[in-house]
Amino acid sequence: MIPIYLDNAATTQVDPSVIECLQKVMSEGPANPSSLHHRGRYARYSVERATEQIGQCLGTLLDQPGGDRLIYTGSGTEANNLVIQGLSKVHHYIFSRIEHPSVLEVGKWLQKQGKSVSWIDADHNGTICLEHLDFLLSSDESPSTLVATMWANNETGVLQPIEEIATLCKAANVRLHVDATQCVGKIPLNLNEIDITSITFSAHKFHGPSGIGASWISGGQTIEPIMFGGEQQLETRPGTEPVALIAGMGQALAVACSGLDQVTKHCLTLRDQLERELLIRFPDLVVQGVGVPRLPGTTCISFVGADRQSMLMALDLEGVACSSGSACSSGSSPPSHVLTAMSRPKVEIDSALRFAVSKFSTSYEIDDVIDRISRVYSRLRR
Ligand SMILES: Cc1ncc(COP(=O)(O)O)c(C=O)c1O
Repeated sequence: MIPIYLDNAATTQVDPSVIECLQKVMSEGPANPSSLHHRGRYARYSVERATEQIGQCLGTLLDQPGGDRLIYTGSGTEANNLVIQGLSKVHHYIFSRIEHPSVLEVGKWLQKQGKSVSWIDADHNGTICLEHLDFLLSSDESPSTLVATMWANNETGVLQPIEEIATLCKAANVRLHVDATQCVGKIPLNLNEIDITSITFSAHKFHGPSGIGASWISGGQTIEPIMFGGEQQLETRPGTEPVALIAGMGQALAVACSGLDQVTKHCLTLRDQLERELLIRFPDLVVQGVGVPRLPGTTCISFVGADRQSMLMALDLEGVACSSGSACSSGSSPPSHVLTAMSRPKVEIDSALRFAVSKFSTSYEIDDVIDRISRVYSRLRR
């Protein structure tokens, strides 16, 4: 049986040109950008080149003194931690209830430290509630507040109204951090056109290598380090930069952005094919967030009457890789905090699976997966 990988929201296959780039940089020789000799200067050049590629894809200039800048991290999780814990002089934090654990758990930890933390509700479709954010901001008496929301949800793929959120934050004169881990390289972004303080992302979500993420910080913002012991990256994130991984991230994003229209069409076609054909066979399935803007390749489907963990394991035996929530919580039993925040009925929460296609998925695979899912669901539904 041919395995079918539909877990591209968890991680993606590395693009062949990225593997080539990693191999090239790694085989060129030792690379520590802090070294003053020729090898060090070459390593620094590789980092600067990748930074330029990333800046071009995000619509932001990253080489101006005191301007917008990138801080490379080991993952999206670290990037979120760094920004939320590191943005200086925050007295009140406002997070949405549907954040990835790398934001949610920082919020809970801050709360335990005695910080003032508020939570924005989401509606039935999985969209952050603008009225609630507006209410929280208008009753906010803190001298300095940070709002943190995601751009695209990792479980449902629902795209959040970031422009409207940014407008509300600007009117209230508060800072906005956006976790863009699920959407960088998947939708067009122009950070020059929108008032955001910081975004975070991670290369392995867009066919780049694992082990490299980044925080983009707008000019004039100060980030306090959460680790100490080195002067790299202006001491904000000490540690020798992983030059090959950074070059691989630049290459991956350049490839993603240059083929964006085509890949978007491809993923939309496959995702719609999957949803349409499954709904024809099983009209009582529920596609979460179906009426609102979503990422092109991600779908969250509730197989009402079945148990998501049993479905996941049975699909794995059928060679289908998908997920029952975010990758970090798959395999564990707590129900999705995202679907819970959306106030979905328990039967939908207990039976929800996430499928995410990529540019490497094929229509043939989707036809095949529809048959495999149908077999499993017919057997496991009560
Ligand atoms: C929305 C979101 N934020 C952050 C992360 C964490 O990224 P990483 O796996 O690079 O730590 C993920 C990963 O699934 C994610 O989907």
